[in-house]
Amino acid sequence: MSENPLRAGLRQRRTPDPAILVIFGATGDLTERKLIPALYHMAQERLLPQNLVILGFARRDDWGDEPFREYLTKEVQAHLGERFDPRLWESFVQRLFFTPGSFGDQASFEALAKRVEELETQFHTGGNMLYYLATPPSWFAQIATDLDKVGLANREQGWQRLIVEKPFGHDLASARELNRQLNEIFREEEIYRIDHYLGKETVQNLLVFRFANAIWEPLWNRHHIDHVQITVSENIGIEDRAGYYDKAGALRDMVQNHLMQLLTLVAMEPPVEFSAGPVRDEKTKVLREVRPLDVARDTVRGQYAAGSVGGKAAKGYLEEENVPEGSTRETFVAIKLQLESWRWQGVPFYLRTGKRLPKKVSEIAIVFRQAPRVLFPADLTSDLESNVLALRIQPDEGISLTFGAKVPGAGGRIRNVTMDFDYGASFGVESPEAYERLLLDALVGDATLFTRRDEVETAWALFDPLLQAWESAPEVATYEAGTWGPKQADDLLAQDGRTWRRL
Ligand code: BG6
Repeated sequence: MSENPLRAGLRQRRTPDPAILVIFGATGDLTERKLIPALYHMAQERLLPQNLVILGFARRDDWGDEPFREYLTKEVQAHLGERFDPRLWESFVQRLFFTPGSFGDQASFEALAKRVEELETQFHTGGNMLYYLATPPSWFAQIATDLDKVGLANREQGWQRLIVEKPFGHDLASARELNRQLNEIFREEEIYRIDHYLGKETVQNLLVFRFANAIWEPLWNRHHIDHVQITVSENIGIEDRAGYYDKAGALRDMVQNHLMQLLTLVAMEPPVEFSAGPVRDEKTKVLREVRPLDVARDTVRGQYAAGSVGGKAAKGYLEEENVPEGSTRETFVAIKLQLESWRWQGVPFYLRTGKRLPKKVSEIAIVFRQAPRVLFPADLTSDLESNVLALRIQPDEGISLTFGAKVPGAGGRIRNVTMDFDYGASFGVESPEAYERLLLDALVGDATLFTRRDEVETAWALFDPLLQAWESAPEVATYEAGTWGPKQADDLLAQDGRTWRRL
């Protein structure tokens, strides 16, 4: 039987073409902590072609290839510890090159273009360019313009793609403006907006779990699901990022992007195929279905005060270095969302995220409706909770299903038990880092796990009114570091007769 052409999208070519990957912000934290370790690991796994060249660009006037290599050798070795293999690194490091320069400076970009040409001749990369913007967002549009001016954005040969890091705008107007500026130079298909949650193995498995198994789909709707809880909690504080964080806050930093991405994958309809267009069409539809928020009733924000996390004393947000005095920036958000769709009408989605919560854990819990209890006396089922399907994103990646079982013995009591699937135990391998998958996808030209223009803008449109309401009424509830957020977060569910899961 010949293959349905629509299904052919599933069989993707996974060997990248030769190319030059230019990293802007090559001496930054992201490059040394995530990008280079990811590329190094990909080389180890033989996922990169021999002639994939990595060219760093940053303001280090006296640097050339050697200082760049030495710097990364030191940093990556420190990050990888025992996983650092000097022999493999020795060959990997030969791919690394460096050109010093400043954004917005024509001469720097002319020098970059010259370097690209030299490397291209040496490594036969055929004009293929992947530009990675690992810089503060205020430079994104400038770099695209700089590339265009020296003819690096649209070249006669090969493909050119642009990876844009987060944050993508800080509200709807700024996201639209950035999209407009980038789209003047790069076509939408050439722009890869990163949301690293989409690169996580467990997040991708959500689609497989939902659409490769027959048993869930009949239950995946308002007839069987009571509500959904999405938790992304962190035990760390804002670390040394006050400059960024105090302008952003938890809503922009986590909810508008990562949590909403998780929500779209849980709620979307089956796409016609697993490729960038259809998957992102379905996700965007979910975002369009979200009912406008009732700020007073459906949203909670909090800020951590001093407390203790994991037995260690933790400062309050206001005591963190460089946080402006009296800041009311939120470090915790809880929100109730409702989707106006055939599948989800009347099923609330409760989202929460925060810094300095008791532990780092990300989980999506599908809480099912209760079975009629008529057959069992109330005292036998008092410990019984609803069936819950918990998709554990990180750590201890896995999936568990909770259901009621009879406690052995004559008493006849019923209580909850759990059936578990554990990634580590089942597959015996560590999941690759999100950045490995995303870099590979961008290199092979698969944008499925990147966010599209309309998707980003729709998510901002949803939260703009909330951001404005919070700006004009800047009081924030506090919660002690090491607790699950302010009391109002519990009230949010209590008003619907529900409680957050104990994680
Ligand atoms: C980033 C946020 O996007 O995601 C950080 O800016 C947050 O504030 C991080 O700590 C969480 O990512 P992960 O992969 O550790 O869950």
